[in-house]
Amino acid sequence: MPRVYIKTYGCQMNERDSEAVAAQLVAKGYEITPTEANADVILLNTCSVRDMAEQKAINKMENLAGQTRKKRDVVLGFMGCMAQSRGQQLLDQLPDVDLVLGTQKFHRAAEYIDQLLAGKRDKIVDTAAEAGSEGTIKEHLLLGSAERKSVSAFVSIMQGCNQYCTFCIVPYTRGEERSRTIADIVAECRKLVEGGVREITLLGQIVTSFGKREIPAVDGKSAFVQLLEAVHAIDGLHRIRFTSPHPKGYGDDLVEAYGRLPKLCQSAHIPLQSGSDRVLKLMHRGYTRERFVGIINKLRKVKPDIGLTTDIIVGFPGETEDDFEQTLSLCREVQFDNAYLFKYSQRRDTPAAAMPDQLAEELKEERHARILELINDIGAGRYREHVGQQMQILAEGPSRNNPSTMMGRTRCNKIVIFDGSPRHQAQLLDVKITRASLFTLHGDPAILE
Ligand code: 5AD
Repeated sequence: MPRVYIKTYGCQMNERDSEAVAAQLVAKGYEITPTEANADVILLNTCSVRDMAEQKAINKMENLAGQTRKKRDVVLGFMGCMAQSRGQQLLDQLPDVDLVLGTQKFHRAAEYIDQLLAGKRDKIVDTAAEAGSEGTIKEHLLLGSAERKSVSAFVSIMQGCNQYCTFCIVPYTRGEERSRTIADIVAECRKLVEGGVREITLLGQIVTSFGKREIPAVDGKSAFVQLLEAVHAIDGLHRIRFTSPHPKGYGDDLVEAYGRLPKLCQSAHIPLQSGSDRVLKLMHRGYTRERFVGIINKLRKVKPDIGLTTDIIVGFPGETEDDFEQTLSLCREVQFDNAYLFKYSQRRDTPAAAMPDQLAEELKEERHARILELINDIGAGRYREHVGQQMQILAEGPSRNNPSTMMGRTRCNKIVIFDGSPRHQAQLLDVKITRASLFTLHGDPAILE
């Protein structure tokens, strides 16, 4: 039974793609191994969103090639975004690599690995577009194995992005927006719920654009809100989340859905990128600071306790001290629970890479440190506010850092660590929050079963 090790870089979409590849391989008789040491096949599922992510994967592959060449015959493969954007070039740079699999070809992984292991083919590069590939990320690992039951699962609903933000490589690595059908997605969700899943996160590069071209609005409800309603109707499902949205997708129909659909958790990760209108325009984001704040206010009106997180880029080309201060002031105004902060990274063939006034690395570092301090400060306050409150959590399983404790998430998507036992897994529990540490809550189960 050949053993496969898969390492994933980047976002939740990549995690999900890796899971689907793993499930596909398991169904064909392969074994997934948690370490690279004894693997017959090593796959790196890559990320291109910043240069650092690409360098990490390339360095890793260089090390693997060096180690495995000395010892034994191992199939080495790149998958995902960097495989898509660099293609054959990766083989030229790293001749020990056997497989380069693009973002529309994950479902071909097992077939190609079979061929490579059997010696039928020497090298395979497949980064072609494939009609219907948006509907191929379907298999889940948990369905096959009783001992690995997951409470929470991710479901891919669409692929690609047409927003063309000037900093972003995603439209080139993931292609045009393509959506699955609502019926297909609901069937997958139903199966997951039958297998014990209680929380589903709908995934895509720009989920709020789901079905835009394919599915007409009904009674003022966008295709995405229609999908939320359809998933909401599944019996046995407790919670629905989604990521990642675009602010332009928060029309009144979606805002109103938070108030109307009790399974839709009051949390949202809404990428801001910048608080300066001038920079937002250069980024081609399609909204102003005022519009962004307006969306947040509307959401808080419907759900005052909504958990809000965001992504911010510092050091976009031409960002002045004044632009940066506007981002800081927006953060003070909105009070995010947390934010992912990125230093602008030039990506090949994106418009911003060729813009004038690229900022020095030290300036990006300095702004990153300043905004990190602010975000940590605001976040600490937001987490502290929960101390003393009773909150509902969905118990997911043993905590990663300390497996003798359990972990769950609040509806507003904050992690809660509590003393419990595996029998609490998959249950909705009310806990009293006793303490807050940085971006983690600690709770005491008030009601057990
Ligand atoms: N440089 C830095 N950060 C980037 N992101 C996307 N492209 C870049 C880039 N070129 C960030 C954005 C996005 C998140 C996933 O990654 O904030 O929301």
